[in-house]
Amino acid sequence: MTHTAVSLRGVSKQFDDLSVLSDISLEVPEGEFLSVIGVSGCGKSTLLRIIGGLEQQTAGEVLVDGVAVKKPTRNTGFVFQDHRLLPWLTVEANIKLGLDKKTPNQDEIVQQNLELVGLQEFLGSYPRQLSGGMAQRVAIARALANRPKILLLDEPFGALDAMTRIHMQQALREIWEKEKITMILITHDIEEAVYLGERVVVLSSRPGHIKKIVDIPHVCHVIRTGTEFSETRDKIYREFFRDENVALDYNI
Ligand SMILES: Nc1ncnc2c1ncn2[C@@H]1O[C@H](COP(=O)(O)OP(=O)(O)OP(=O)(O)O)[C@@H](O)[C@H]1O
Ligand SMILES: [Mg+2]
Repeated sequence: MTHTAVSLRGVSKQFDDLSVLSDISLEVPEGEFLSVIGVSGCGKSTLLRIIGGLEQQTAGEVLVDGVAVKKPTRNTGFVFQDHRLLPWLTVEANIKLGLDKKTPNQDEIVQQNLELVGLQEFLGSYPRQLSGGMAQRVAIARALANRPKILLLDEPFGALDAMTRIHMQQALREIWEKEKITMILITHDIEEAVYLGERVVVLSSRPGHIKKIVDIPHVCHVIRTGTEFSETRDKIYREFFRDENVALDYNI
């Protein structure tokens, strides 16, 4: 039987008078790659912060590995839009910062995780010596170093150019296939959501609630240019903009 990594049951969030999330219920099985899309301000980051214990929900239940989330733990790794590396520390020292002081074999762990993101030669470099994509790879290596049970990614490639994004998406897909860590990715980019996610959750505008969950055919993770990919992408576009005044089809 598949184990549930994350359970959200009737989760709502209110900041004073502002209702940000409304009645979110979702089960994420262990090892799944789940993409979440929604317009700016619909509560995506808030949802991720709640799952990671950085924020508390106003109503409902959040369980990670069957345990109610009360605060951040090493079971959960975060990657944000900006890499958040400390500029005065080397790549090696930045990754070690994420490790528990008592963790044995730290050099080996740093090496293994840098290899995973293809940056083993940059151990002694400083963040300013890296490109945006490389710095984001280090941020991923740092988040993975503790071998979290779940990895939460909040628009991790949002600040990168379109070509680098595609390379990074592929790198992340390969890491996920190797490591099988449960991953939840927030993105504005529908193609990114389809390429990476086994399911895509479409959130409504604020207060964010689940509009639809779309299952993604496996072929979309292999070929980005085929009919199946474009049909799946278009289905999500339509879902995303259904209630808005956006032209989606030719009026013939
Ligand atoms: N700590 C806070 N206190 C008060 N309001 C907040 C707080 N955090 C977020 N909000 C509000 O909650 C709403 C949702 O914010 P959130 O950052 O979750 O949106 P988002 O979907 O991640 O947006 P974006 O796509 O632009 O990153 C916004 O209106 C924001 O102003
Ligand atoms: Mg956000």
